[in-house]
Amino acid sequence: MITFTLNNEKRSVDADPDTPLLWVIRDEIGLTGTKFGCGAGLCGACTVHLDGEPVRSCQTLISDVAELNITTIEGIDGKAAKAIQTAWEEIEVPQCGYCQSGQIMSATSLLAQNPKPSDAEIDEAMDGNVCRCATYVRIRKAIHHASDLMEA
Ligand code: FES
Ligand code: FES
Repeated sequence: MITFTLNNEKRSVDADPDTPLLWVIRDEIGLTGTKFGCGAGLCGACTVHLDGEPVRSCQTLISDVAELNITTIEGIDGKAAKAIQTAWEEIEVPQCGYCQSGQIMSATSLLAQNPKPSDAEIDEAMDGNVCRCATYVRIRKAIHHASDLMEA
């Protein structure tokens, strides 16, 4: 049995230690906001926070998260998350939407650590999150907008 905290709730799962966290989140627990994209750590669709840091849940073993705190798109909260959510809506960032929960997880973590990021810092933080609809310009604009909302 492996125990961890998911979105502020204690969870225990009886899973093979080599099971990717993404499988547990989606298939065992049923939270489907975190997406499967490449399964190889290349697209960022599966991004969640592990003790506040963005990680690729397809590349994180369930045995590696024992006793740690995981946050998914369903559970993000706080000033940066609220600003990102508002900015995403106001700038109308998503197109098909598939990559967007991963984008939001990375963007929220960036703003929580760096409330006024430069373009270069945004590009660096968001580098591993691929968008096949190429919403990158709107993503960058929305992160700047969220940064302004946090200041207001
Ligand atoms: S599904 Fe995890 S990085 Fe693509
Ligand atoms: S909005 Fe379609 S993949 Fe990003």
